[in-house]
This record gives sequence, structure tokens and C-alpha cells, in this order.
Amino acid sequence: MTIPESANKGLENIIACTTEISTIHDTTLLYRGYAIEDLAAHTSFEEVIYLLWTGNLPNSKELQEFRAKLTIEIPDALLKMMESFAQMKTHPMAKLRSAVSLYGMFDPEAEQQSQEAFFEKSLKTTAIMGALVAALSRYTDGLKPIPAQKNVSLAENFLTMIRGKTPTKDEIKLFDTALILHADHELNASAFAARVVISTTTDYYSAITGALGTLKGPLHGGANEQVMLMLAEIGSFAHIDAFIEDAVNAKKKVMGIGHRVYKHGDPRARILKEVSEKICTTPQLKEYRHMLIHIQEQMESRKGLMPNVDFYSGLLYSALDLKPRDFTPIFAVSRIAGWSAQIMEQMRNNRIYRPRGFYTGPTDRKVS
Ligand code: COA
Repeated sequence: MTIPESANKGLENIIACTTEISTIHDTTLLYRGYAIEDLAAHTSFEEVIYLLWTGNLPNSKELQEFRAKLTIEIPDALLKMMESFAQMKTHPMAKLRSAVSLYGMFDPEAEQQSQEAFFEKSLKTTAIMGALVAALSRYTDGLKPIPAQKNVSLAENFLTMIRGKTPTKDEIKLFDTALILHADHELNASAFAARVVISTTTDYYSAITGALGTLKGPLHGGANEQVMLMLAEIGSFAHIDAFIEDAVNAKKKVMGIGHRVYKHGDPRARILKEVSEKICTTPQLKEYRHMLIHIQEQMESRKGLMPNVDFYSGLLYSALDLKPRDFTPIFAVSRIAGWSAQIMEQMRNNRIYRPRGFYTGPTDRKVS
């Protein structure tokens, strides 16, 4: 049986839709035409969300109004349900996926399909995602959630809510940069999942729940947590060469390395590597950073593979005193912006996704 060339495993290089939101050009990532380096240096996460959703950066009045609409209020009944997750051994991403699905149950207009309705749901869900992640993390540690503050950025609110202390200006800036870098990434697996789900004209929350389940996987957003676990397992710089030797010889996947589209480097990894230098001040973090740089150099020279966004992000989050178990949920705190943009774009010109599978099974079986 000859499998047709169009049967592309993993849909590599397949164009599944047109998009104006974000794109990858060799080693550059653009959101709505702006290079990610430019946005990371000169804008805030809130401005980037506005850009992704509307196509333009806001002026100061628009930004002020937009910020005021990003209200964070977790319904009490949902908090109670989330508290009951605390003892469960399920992955924090499974808890977050369930919490977001439950959050949709509190929206009496969940089924509305207009662009205005999608925008409203995007605002609420984007605002609340950090509060959900923080509350779930605190419940897991037997602590009470900290309510969000008004007139405070999403970055500052999140760091305060999850750590229980006011972050410094530098910490807010670094975390805000990480949020900007993770906000969208063309037709990655979770964005594609969101578009496939919403293309059936189901509700916004179903699409976001699908995207969260997709991001959870170690081959996608789950890699950031795996990188830190990998470093802890290697232990110290003294064991790094043995680890690399084993990984290369046994063809094991090194987390945070490789990418389907970037073949000459991921700009987000370059930025995170650079900004992590300033904040990795403890001997442990310095050693981890040193280890990552060595792995990067070896994987590039021996296998021609480069780091992706997940390679250095965990280091930054660790330096911000965040726990590895929360790293993938933190990815979602940012990527909700991109998923929402992708959902709105999909529904402006929708056609249900329905590809074909090339059948390779038998065709002549009989029950009796
Ligand atoms: N470590 C070691 N080798 C890797 C690798 C990694 N992280 N990523 C890819 N490779 C190798 C593969 O073994 C394969 O080698 P081969 O041709 O000798 O068989 C080749 O590179 C192509 O890899 P493939 O898995 O087909 O690439 P993909 O485009 O299907 O997958 C990723 C892309 C990102 C899923 C893949 O690179 C990966 O699993 N990386 C680790 C997980 C990760 O960091 N995910 C976050 C993505 S942002």
C-alpha cells in the first residue's frame, strides 16, 4: 500500500489556515508585524494582549480602559471546588484545565458566538487565569488564596497572589517580559486545538479547555517543568557531559531543545537566556544556568538542535521563586491571550476543520 505524500505525519509545513496574528520568519517571531524583541523591550503584557486581539497597540486612553476591564474575581463557589482539588495528586495543569472548564459554567452567556461575546469572555478568562493558577498553587500548599488588587498589572497581581509578597519592580518587569514572550506562537499545537474545537461552533470555554489539555503535554508547554526536573536529576555541572553523552547515544529527547519550525534558533530562548543572567544570583541558579548553556552548546554542535522557549523559562521562574509544578500553568497565564486571539480570528471566517485519515486497516472482515 502506497501512502500518499499528502499524508503528512504531524502536519509539518501544512498551511491549515490564514492568520494575521503572529508568524515565524526564520529566527524572528512577529506579533501583528512587530518583532518580539521590540515588544519585549517597549511594551507591557496588557498592551500585547490588546495588540493580539485588535491588531493595533493601544494609545494611553485605550490602554487605561482596557486595563479596567481586565477584572479578576473568582466566584466563591468555584473557589470551594478548587479547594477540594488540593489533596488530589493530579497534575496542576489537570487542575487548571478543570477549573477553567468549571469557570465556564458560571457564564450564563457561555454559548454566545458574536465577536463581542468572544471578546468579553477573552477579557474575563485572561484576567482570571493568573488568579486561578495562584489559588490552585496556594491550596495545594494548604494556604488561602490572596485576592487580586485593583489598578495593578497582571504580572504584579500574579506574583503577589502566588507568592504572598509584593514583588520588586525588576521582578515585575522580568515576569511581564516572560508573559509577552509566551503570549502567542502562530499555529502551535494548543492554538490549533483551540481553533479546531471552536470551528465546530461550540463555546469559548470548551476551546480553551482543549487548548489547556494540549499545552499540558511535555512535547508542548510541559517542557518548561521538565527542563528543571532534568537539571535537578543531573545534579551538578560535574555530571553534565555524562548526561549529554547518554542522551545523544541513546537518542533521548532533551527537554527544551528542538523545534518544528525554528531551525536556526528561537528568539524567545535568546531573550530568556539573556534576561536570566541578571536574576540568577544564587550559586544553585548560577550552576543551573551554566549547565543549560553547556547543554545548548553541545546539542547545537553535535546534533544541530537549538533551544526553544522552554529551555530557559524555568530558570527565570525559579529565580522568581516559583515552583516547577506551576511552570506549565504559568505558560497558560500568558498563552490564554493568544488562544483568545486565535478563537476570535477563527470565528470571523469559520469553516469546520475536517481533514482525512488515510486508511491502512483491513477492508474485507466479516463477523460470521
Ligand atoms: N533532543 C534530542 N533530539 C531531538 C530533540 C531533542 N529535544 N528534538 C528533536 N530531536 C531529534 C529527533 O530525535 C529527530 O532525530 P532523527 O531525525 O535522528 O530521528 C530529529 O531531531 C527531528 O525531531 P522530531 O521529533 O521529528 O521533531 P518534531 O518537529 O516532530 O518535534 C519537538 C519538535 C519540539 C516536539 C521536539 O524537538 C521535542 O520533542 N523537543 C523536546 C520537547 C520540547 O522542548 N518541547 C517544547 C516545544 S516549544
